[in-house]
Amino acid sequence: MKYLIIGTGGTGGAIGGFLAANGKDVSFIARGAHLDAMRKRGLTIRSDRRGDLHIPDVQASEMKDYRGSPDVVFVCVKGYSLGDTIPFLRRAARPDTVVIPILNIYGTGGKMAARLPELTITDGCVYISSYVSAPGEITQRGNIFRVVFGMRDGSFPPVFDDIRADLTESGIDTVVSENIRRDAFQKFSCVSPMAAAGAYFDATVGELRSDPHRRSVYQQLVVEVGRLAQAMGIPFDTDVVQENLEILDQMTPESTASLQKDLKRGQKSEMDGLIFEVIRLGEKYRVPVPTYWKIAKHFGYSNVFDPIEVGGMELRNRIIRSATRDGVENEDGTVSDRQIRIFEELAENETGLIITGHLYVSPEGRASRSQNGICGDEFIPGLRRLTRAVHEREGCVVAQISHAGAKAVVPEPAAPCGLELIPGKKARMLTEKEIGKICLDFADAASRARQAGFDGVQIHMAHHYLLSQFLTPEMNTRTDDYGGSAENRFRICRRVVEEVRRECGHDYPVLVKLNSNVPQGDETYEAELIGLVRELEKLGVCAVELSGYDFSARRPNERNYYLDRAARVQQSTGIPVILVGGIRSLSDIARVLDSGVRLVSFSRPFICQGDLVSRLRAGEKPRCTGCNQCFTLPQSRGIRCVFHQAD
Ligand SMILES: Cc1cc2nc3c(=O)[nH]c(=O)nc-3n(C[C@H](O)[C@H](O)[C@H](O)COP(=O)(O)O)c2cc1C
Ligand code: SF4
Repeated sequence: MKYLIIGTGGTGGAIGGFLAANGKDVSFIARGAHLDAMRKRGLTIRSDRRGDLHIPDVQASEMKDYRGSPDVVFVCVKGYSLGDTIPFLRRAARPDTVVIPILNIYGTGGKMAARLPELTITDGCVYISSYVSAPGEITQRGNIFRVVFGMRDGSFPPVFDDIRADLTESGIDTVVSENIRRDAFQKFSCVSPMAAAGAYFDATVGELRSDPHRRSVYQQLVVEVGRLAQAMGIPFDTDVVQENLEILDQMTPESTASLQKDLKRGQKSEMDGLIFEVIRLGEKYRVPVPTYWKIAKHFGYSNVFDPIEVGGMELRNRIIRSATRDGVENEDGTVSDRQIRIFEELAENETGLIITGHLYVSPEGRASRSQNGICGDEFIPGLRRLTRAVHEREGCVVAQISHAGAKAVVPEPAAPCGLELIPGKKARMLTEKEIGKICLDFADAASRARQAGFDGVQIHMAHHYLLSQFLTPEMNTRTDDYGGSAENRFRICRRVVEEVRRECGHDYPVLVKLNSNVPQGDETYEAELIGLVRELEKLGVCAVELSGYDFSARRPNERNYYLDRAARVQQSTGIPVILVGGIRSLSDIARVLDSGVRLVSFSRPFICQGDLVSRLRAGEKPRCTGCNQCFTLPQSRGIRCVFHQAD
């Protein structure tokens, strides 16, 4: 049988090393200096259990260079790298390939199976103390080395006997479990409390067991995991508290959890899967986990990474890429290849929802050369490529549709009244007939968005584009049905929403983006805004994103620009509010969500780092400095952010 080990760390290196030393056909996926050393000098295992082993001609490569067809794959990566293995497995594995995930994080097999339904995916866990002691070298300590795996439905494919025989023959104790959910969770009940207590107190195993307070916190964490197991219908059949305390007492005193080491080095860590996941399970199974909560809060946990349903869309988490003109669109307004790559990266890294940059609904409403259009069917194929790229990565994507009004780059811009938003170009006032036509343009655009596969549309009513020009009192001096009172200024917006819903059907998600402030008379605007949001809710809009007219004039160190107002809007309405503007770190997000606002979105941080959600999950701080150069960089230097290189 051909074995493939993805991730040649302490666990993967030892499993693959033991098998290869016993003459089995094993390939390894590795990286960096470790891979170089394996290629040059082979793989060495310094093992208490089997003595020193050396595999001189080890087959090792990066994922991109692997061309084999494995019968069995052990996935031994860290939880945060699991996403990278999915497209690789789609390419490398056959339906009868057995995939055995051996991760610290509980439930990995189930999650992988959902994303790779065509493959045979087990669950698994390992009992071993091992680590990479030098490039090309793994050290395995002690006599314990046990691999446990099994199908979640309890079935036992015949090939499992062969795998068990190969592992056992190679010196690895092997259990094919009939209740792998329970057995993997039992292993988790050991790893997770150790990681949580170790990281919280920043203590070694010796310090955890000798200090009565720390020891009792550790014990309490195990108790909470045990209660969860009970509620999940997989009660442990042994006394895990006693067992885990014994394990703690037997471990070498100076050892620390790998989570703790990663945090110390400022690296990505498994915080989410080892600690935050327990909170989520606690919520799901209604089991109080107060000790986990305390520790999770200490590390900045909020429910930001929990899924949420918005207008029928199942979002993976509460972080949205706010509408952002990408700056690399084709000149004719169609979607460019560079844009596809931007959307692929956002989706691959689990951005909860991606909103496109504003798409012009008619040529007269185009705001700039670097903008995509949706005013004709010729735009649909490119947009369809974009939605496919996102859906193939299990993401959700919404099209923002817009008309620039007085800000349009046309010879004669038209607006609610004679506004001059482009110096030297005063807009002419739209007639009522033209207003009616614009409402239909929005509806046609939404219909094209639907045909192109978008999960919904967002109507742009913010940032002083056409609909925002109507809403903003000082920009709308009309005296007919479309100007004057709040109700009149809202009339065109109401008609646009109604036309879009009529055209696309009442189930199609419609979102709206609004300014939370106005340049003049802002104190009285709040009541009007709440009224507007209530009207939008009645019209069937499923979420309102609140931005502000002045986001680009804020200082780089300002945060959560519009939070106070958004929180009051959320408290006064039932519709989910999405807040955008100066939200950066996990603690900024926590403040927003703690205020009751349901979702957050960012723009600039995603321009800077398309993989930001993965980075936040790993506890990293975003890199964007708020220098605002991204407004002009694409035109002047062909790049999107000061931190990017030109292509
Ligand atoms: C380069 C750039 C392009 C933008 N394009 C759009 C757009 O097409 N539609 C829109 O509603 N907002 C657009 N915005 C505004 C953002 O969506 C967001 O509301 C604003 O930048 C505040 O969020 P942030 O502080 O996270 O950047 C853009 C912002 C930037 C920096
Ligand atoms: S150019 Fe500056 S503000 Fe824009 S994304 Fe990059 S770092 Fe952030």
